[in-house]
Amino acid sequence: MRKTLIAGNWKMNGRKAMAVELCSDIVKGFSELKGIDVAICPPFTLLDTVHEAIADSACMLGAQDMDLHDDGAYTGQVSAGMLKDCGCELVILGHSERRTLYGETDRSVTDKTEVALKNGIRPIVCVGETREEREGGQVESVVAGQLRSVIDGVGIDSFADVIIAYEPVWAIGTGLTATPEQAQTMHAFIRNLLADRDRETASACRLLYGGSMKADNAADLLGCPDIDGGLIGGASLAAEDFLGICKAA
Ligand code: PGA
Repeated sequence: MRKTLIAGNWKMNGRKAMAVELCSDIVKGFSELKGIDVAICPPFTLLDTVHEAIADSACMLGAQDMDLHDDGAYTGQVSAGMLKDCGCELVILGHSERRTLYGETDRSVTDKTEVALKNGIRPIVCVGETREEREGGQVESVVAGQLRSVIDGVGIDSFADVIIAYEPVWAIGTGLTATPEQAQTMHAFIRNLLADRDRETASACRLLYGGSMKADNAADLLGCPDIDGGLIGGASLAAEDFLGICKAA
C-alpha cells in the first residue's frame, strides 16, 4: 500500500518569522491527521528554522535542489552532505523552474539523483511537459525521455527510494490544473514505464501530482488510483490551504 505524501514546495518564499508561524500551524493541524506523510521544502536559508519548528512532529524536511558534487570549491552551491546535516530527508530535483530558468538537464537530474541516494536523501524527481509539447502531441515522449534518463542512470532498483512528481509545466502556478483524467492517464503511463523494468518497484513507487493543486481540487486528483500525493507550490504558503489539501488526502 502506497502512503500518500503531501509535500510543500515553498520556492523562493519565506522569512524566519513566517516560517515559524506557518510550521507551527501546519504541525498543529497535521497532528489531527492520520495515515499520510507530510513534507515541507523551504529555501536553503530556512532549512534550520523549519527543522527546529517541525522537530516534535512527523513532518519531514526537504530541500528544493542541491549540487551534484561533494563539498569543495563550488561557490554558491549546497551539497547533499550539507542537506543531510540540516536534517533533510528529501530533495526536489529537476523542477521545471530549475530546468527552464537554470539550465537543469536530464543528465544533471540523473547525476543529482544518484548523489542524493548515495547520501541517504530521497529524491523527488520532477517530470512534465510544456503546453507546446502537449499541443504537439509529445506528452508521452517528453515524460518518457525525462524518466528513462534517470532509470538508466541509477537503475530501476534504486526507485524503491525515488519519488516521482508529474508536473505539467502549463499547470504550475497558473491556476490551470490538469483534469483528474489527464493526470491519471500520465500517472498510469509513468507507472507502466517503471513496470516495463520491474513490476514490484513500479507498484511501490510513489507518484505525486503537481500543478495548481488546491484544497478544492485535491480530493478529485488524489482519488485517482495512480496519484499518491501532491507537490504543492502556491497553496503550501498558507496553513489553511495546505492543511485543506492534507485533509482531502
Ligand atoms: P503550484 O506549484 O502548486 O503553485 O502550481 C507546484 C510546483 O511547482 O511544485
